Amino acid sequence: MARAQLTRSIEFPAGHRYYRSEWSEQENAVRFGKCANEPAHGHDYRIEVTVEAEVDEQTGMAIDLSALDELLAQEILRPMDHAFLNDLPEFAGERAIPTTENLARAIWDRLVPGLPAACSLRRVRVREGRDLWSDYRG
Ligand code: NI
Repeated sequence: MARAQLTRSIEFPAGHRYYRSEWSEQENAVRFGKCANEPAHGHDYRIEVTVEAEVDEQTGMAIDLSALDELLAQEILRPMDHAFLNDLPEFAGERAIPTTENLARAIWDRLVPGLPAACSLRRVRVREGRDLWSDYRG
């Protein structure tokens, strides 16, 4: 049987701010630049999720696409679309800065428990814009 990778891409706008309250305004400005400015700013995020599994001979599919889309809606779009990412549990209370890198890992951790056992997550790519993205592979 053949294994195949499948990538689904979804888009949503969201806001964030890079800031550590234990640092001075100057330190935040030095480390984070304009990303530390108040108020928050937004991006049109594009998330690419790549999964891998055996291709089912009857359906020709590596994963039930509607099930994948429902998982992406539940774990990514519902909590993150038009949201302030700093408020997500992964980042709230300054647990972590909602950078492109950290968001890729947060999405990975959200998706893994919901995937079928026979299906592996291979890559989460978070694009913050045309010229900036981060890949996480677990
Ligand atoms: Ni930003």
